[in-house]
Amino acid sequence: MLLLTALSGTLFVLPVLVTFGIYFGLDHQRILECGFHCGSDNSNSSTGSGNSSTGTGTSGDLPTGANLTAAQYCEKSYAITPAPGRYTFNPNQWGDTNDTGSLCINVSIGTGFTNSGSDNQDYAAGFAATWQYPQGSEDSPVHAFPNADLNLPSVFPVQLSTLSGLDLDVSWAYDPDSTIVDSTNYTGLVAAEVNANVCVDMFLSSNISDANSTTGADFEVMVWLGRFGAATDPIGVADGPQENRTVNGTTFSLYYGDNSLGQHTITWLADQNTTDFTGNLGPLLRNLSSYTGPTSDDYLGYVAFGSEALYSNRNVTFYVPKLAIEVSVS
Ligand SMILES: *[C@@H]1O[C@H](CO)[C@@H](O)[C@H](O)[C@H]1NC(C)=O
Ligand SMILES: *[C@@H]1O[C@H](CO)[C@@H](O)[C@H](O)[C@H]1NC(C)=O
Ligand SMILES: *[C@@H]1O[C@H](CO)[C@@H](O)[C@H](O)[C@H]1NC(C)=O
Ligand SMILES: *[C@@H]1O[C@H](CO)[C@@H](O)[C@H](O)[C@H]1NC(C)=O
Ligand SMILES: *[C@@H]1O[C@H](CO)[C@@H](O)[C@H](O)[C@H]1NC(C)=O
Ligand SMILES: *[C@@H]1O[C@H](CO)[C@@H](O)[C@H](O)[C@H]1NC(C)=O
Ligand SMILES: *[C@@H]1O[C@H](CO)[C@@H](O)[C@H](O)[C@H]1NC(C)=O
Ligand SMILES: *[C@@H]1O[C@H](CO)[C@@H](O)[C@H](O)[C@H]1NC(C)=O
Ligand SMILES: *[C@@H]1O[C@H](CO)[C@@H](O)[C@H](O)[C@H]1NC(C)=O
Ligand SMILES: *[C@@H]1O[C@H](CO)[C@@H](O)[C@H](O)[C@H]1NC(C)=O
Ligand SMILES: *[C@@H]1O[C@H](CO)[C@@H](O)[C@H](O)[C@H]1NC(C)=O
Ligand SMILES: *[C@@H]1O[C@H](CO)[C@@H](O)[C@H](O)[C@H]1NC(C)=O
Repeated sequence: MLLLTALSGTLFVLPVLVTFGIYFGLDHQRILECGFHCGSDNSNSSTGSGNSSTGTGTSGDLPTGANLTAAQYCEKSYAITPAPGRYTFNPNQWGDTNDTGSLCINVSIGTGFTNSGSDNQDYAAGFAATWQYPQGSEDSPVHAFPNADLNLPSVFPVQLSTLSGLDLDVSWAYDPDSTIVDSTNYTGLVAAEVNANVCVDMFLSSNISDANSTTGADFEVMVWLGRFGAATDPIGVADGPQENRTVNGTTFSLYYGDNSLGQHTITWLADQNTTDFTGNLGPLLRNLSSYTGPTSDDYLGYVAFGSEALYSNRNVTFYVPKLAIEVSVS
């Protein structure tokens, strides 16, 4: 969850917490295990209250090295779970209640694993989100969180004391246009006034029953690999970084505070935009109690990778050609 601080160029005033709805809650029990053709065959797995009349899964190529076929979804919220069902994709335009912008997510279906090899089924299908929103209100700046959510009901919720690893292997790129690119065009993003982050979003709770609830969980822990624009600040930014931890060469700084739902929010912000990352995020979930974060008795119930989209002055595209999240339990 984001915090909007003062408008850029003005002095810092009082932080205003984002109000949310957060993400439309996806009921994992109701998500269709829809297989390779879910885009065209099962167009009614929509959840949430958004406008679901568009994006019934028209096919289009997502021209990665693997020569994938993609289906496009433009719904406000829509659970897309291609076989083998490990990841659920969602355009998740939870903050676009007034239809002020647009977002479509393309998900490679079929041969869509983003890596080859024996463990390829741990990798997600490639996906890309093209979006544009105007600047939102100061108390509700986030329009969408297009994401891939790890859908492992047999593993989650997992008590942190038994979590031995949370390995992330990811590559992403952002471009100030409607097409995918291999590398992020930073100057173009500045010109497009892009305000967005790229992050892993996790929810945890002392109560095992609500650890998978993005609104009911006690704790939110985020790991930001990218941060664009002056309005894109973590909760607690005014208090400064509290601690730094390095994971496989990338240094993250900790910020913390409560979000407007009262969830204790910890944000680990990478010290530079990190478009390629391989490493174990487990240590970023340890020893957080002095920052009002979870203890080893608490349960991790939700892990997703995506981009919180605030605004831009033109279409921009968030592209994830490679993603795997692996959970190890001892
Ligand atoms: C959380 O998990 C429970 C069972 O473990 C399930 O009934 C519930 O639908 C899940 N909630 C969400 C938001 O996924
Ligand atoms: C989806 O819902 C609409 C309206 O409720 C219905 O007309 C359509 O047949 C449904 N499509 C599928 C694939 O079930
Ligand atoms: C969804 O959007 C379409 C096209 O913009 C519009 O005609 C329809 O009324 C909307 N439906 C809802 C439920 O808002
Ligand atoms: C997504 O799919 C649509 C429909 O085929 C296509 O027009 C568009 O170019 C694709 N977007 C990206 C970013 O690949
Ligand atoms: C939607 O529009 C209404 C009426 O103009 C406004 O009060 C509200 O703040 C807007 N919502 C968002 C999320 O911008
Ligand atoms: C911007 O992206 C949307 C999909 O999110 C697409 O429908 C629209 O055609 C794009 N506009 C331009 C100018 O490329
Ligand atoms: C980056 O974006 C800017 C603005 O859209 C554009 O002028 C420039 O050509 C782009 N650079 C590359 C390497 O694509
Ligand atoms: C745990 O969460 C569930 C689901 O939200 C709720 O019904 C239950 O009362 C909670 N238990 C405690 C001890 O708070
Ligand atoms: C964390 O690193 C930043 C620079 O990357 C530095 O300014 C800050 O003092 C460090 N904080 C701590 C608590 O070590
Ligand atoms: C990430 O890139 C943007 C430019 O698009 C820049 O403003 C920002 O400072 C970069 N973030 C870090 C942490 O270097
Ligand atoms: C650290 O990063 C390198 C380069 O991305 C990767 O090859 C290696 O597997 C990573 N190590 C761990 C322990 O994740
Ligand atoms: C957590 O604290 C313990 C005890 O001080 C220490 O041994 C351990 O290395 C810490 N772990 C992390 C990830 O900081």
